[in-house]
Amino acid sequence: MTLSNNGWNAAKSSAQLAVTSLWRGLAFVRDQVLARVPRPAVFIALGAIAGAGVLLTVSSLVGVAVETWSRGDVQLRARIVLLSAKGQIEELARDPSPEAAAELQALFARLITDERLQAVGICEPDGRMRAPTSTMPSRLLCASIRRGKAETTMPIRIDSQDLLVSAFPLADGVLGHVVIVHDLTYAKARSDKARVYILVATVVAALLVSGAVAVAMLVLVRNWRTALRTTLEDLRAGRVDAPHTEAALPAELREALDQYDLVRRTIDGVHIDWTPETLQRALGAELPGAEVLVVSNREPYIHNHIEGGGINVQIPASGLVSAIEPVIRACGGTWIAHGSGSADRDTVDAADRIAVPPDAPSYALRRIWLTEEQQDGYYYGFSNEGMWPLCHIAFVRPAFRESDWRYYREVNEMFADAVVREAKTRDPIVLVQDYHFALLPRMVRKRLPKATIVTFWHIPWPNAETFGICPWKEEIIDGLLGSSILGFHTDFHCNNFFETVDRFVESRIDRERRSATLGGHETLVRPYPISIEWPPSALAGQKPVPACGAAVRSRFGLGEGVRIGVGIERFDYTKGIVDRMHAVDALLQNHPEWLGRFTFIQAAAPTRSKIASYRALQDEAVALADEINARHGTPDWRPIVLSIRHHDPAEVFELFRAADFCVVSSLHDGMNLVAKEFVAARDDERGVLVLSTFAGASRELVEGLIVNPYYAYDMADAMNRALTMPVAEQEARMRQMRALVRTRNVYRWAGQMLLDAAQLRRREAIETLAAGNLAALPRLLRRRMG
Ligand code: F6P
Repeated sequence: MTLSNNGWNAAKSSAQLAVTSLWRGLAFVRDQVLARVPRPAVFIALGAIAGAGVLLTVSSLVGVAVETWSRGDVQLRARIVLLSAKGQIEELARDPSPEAAAELQALFARLITDERLQAVGICEPDGRMRAPTSTMPSRLLCASIRRGKAETTMPIRIDSQDLLVSAFPLADGVLGHVVIVHDLTYAKARSDKARVYILVATVVAALLVSGAVAVAMLVLVRNWRTALRTTLEDLRAGRVDAPHTEAALPAELREALDQYDLVRRTIDGVHIDWTPETLQRALGAELPGAEVLVVSNREPYIHNHIEGGGINVQIPASGLVSAIEPVIRACGGTWIAHGSGSADRDTVDAADRIAVPPDAPSYALRRIWLTEEQQDGYYYGFSNEGMWPLCHIAFVRPAFRESDWRYYREVNEMFADAVVREAKTRDPIVLVQDYHFALLPRMVRKRLPKATIVTFWHIPWPNAETFGICPWKEEIIDGLLGSSILGFHTDFHCNNFFETVDRFVESRIDRERRSATLGGHETLVRPYPISIEWPPSALAGQKPVPACGAAVRSRFGLGEGVRIGVGIERFDYTKGIVDRMHAVDALLQNHPEWLGRFTFIQAAAPTRSKIASYRALQDEAVALADEINARHGTPDWRPIVLSIRHHDPAEVFELFRAADFCVVSSLHDGMNLVAKEFVAARDDERGVLVLSTFAGASRELVEGLIVNPYYAYDMADAMNRALTMPVAEQEARMRQMRALVRTRNVYRWAGQMLLDAAQLRRREAIETLAAGNLAALPRLLRRRMG
């Protein structure tokens, strides 16, 4: 069946109307509603508009189709009726008499009663209407009807009434045309009925479908919520591999979880060769574009004026510096530190910055200037006469002075200001170093709430009872709990910290998750055993081990066959320097076979000499060395050689390589990197490490000879064992320790902390999502990823 002209027109205009309304509706929703209303409401409204548009279009098209079909039906019936009476009509049409006309009229009247025709008449060739039924519209003129040799049908509008008129030729039009006006009420009624049926059917179907969808959605949302809750609990507990829950999660969340899992796998993955490149790649992948700021008291490069003019650069004897420097060199950023060198001010730019390392700049050093009073109060006073002895439990009584505390707070504020000023983003990664800045994490958190603050405590954390001595313990704990992550060297120190927090502040401690929450902010408290770079740069350019031995012997005037023990560190009372001298004394007493055949070289860098206990230690050590040398020495042999000055890394490594053993006899130490450096220096796999059980390093370097530094006999025995240890045993022990330091190097240490920071940032993003802000997640992740 084909649609007639007016059918097409009606269909076209209905479709146009529907499309135009739909388009306008969508534009309105987009401009006026979309931006203001929550997404679900927008989707529902758009769905309703689209649904209504589709409904209107379908029902219009169906109505038109039915009407057209009905008209065709009407025309067909008319044609059939006419053909059946055609002979009779033609005969009567030939007869011009009034009787024939009356007969025609009667015939036509019969036809219209039962065949759904409205009116019938004849248009004579001269254009007059003959024998029209009484129902023929009076204003319908033959002139307005198209007539030809074949049947025609046309729409005509008279008195705002749409008529459908057909003209059938009689004797090829010679006798005129039978004109039939169709009764369209039937077609119209049929079409209206069809429209109503379609509307009702569609509405019922839509209700049924949306009911089913709603039920399905409810079930899905319930599952999704459960999955989300379980996942977040898993995240909190550090378990994310719960595939049964993930399947129900939206794609964005699954993606976030995948990345989270990737981070975990990277951290847990046993086999990662951590190098500057791996660290860079890991950061690039997990924290792309993240801004890194380091804060420490000690700067990595100190510029000093030298006698006779000129400036030299000193790398300080600091475990912190040797750990952080290779890391920031690898990932770039800004290091904020106290400018303590005599030529520091002369080497910075107008913003107090200098690009370092001097030979191949890769990051910025921002120097902070302190007055002498500030340095006395904050550095010598509170940090090194208060916190240092407090945390080290080395039997030097901590001193707490109100004025020192004021300076400590003031300098922490100054550094926090510098962090905020240096930060170019709202969420930098701030790596806070050590006990000099216990208050700074909270200060930075207040001003940069989105910052990821990773604080590392390089010294031990004592038990709660000991820490309770500090008059400002609550403030210190509060300051540290401004961090996102707080790191210690060992689990033991983490546990001491938890115990302290538990004892002194109102907080929530989650042992399983290893976190402490104060004032709604959660800080992860984790062990990150610090280490050194691998391979150590100081190893480059070193002579072979025998040549190092020869060089050291000649420098210190030692005879050819004299065996060497070394100790190398800052002249600090926590290092057990005096105690190891007592052990040398005991060794020579208990094993006189070493008289004249063994020398202990103690290289000690002067440090914190303004503090009485440090001066006293140095005096005591010098006096003790003299005493032991006097007791056992000869005119051409000294059992103890003291070298009190700064030794640069190359010299230190030469000493390590020359030694038969190295003593690390800390009375208490967070980690002690000297132990790891000694191991790293011995690429010949020889030499023995004598290591204090009170240094964090003894938890990792178990192949060293572990000693109690308080017991001279024990240490003397270990020295003797070291001097007599078979080469094969030395190699076996050294190989194990080297493998450990190589894999657990400083890049791994930094990598673990930074990847934990990345994990934390992602969890924040997931929690944002969980809080209902689904749309914000991709943006958030993108921002996190740069
Ligand atoms: O152990 C803490 C620490 O900061 C070390 O990282 C570093 O070896 C030492 O103290 C440096 O002390 P200072 O900077 O006071 O010379």
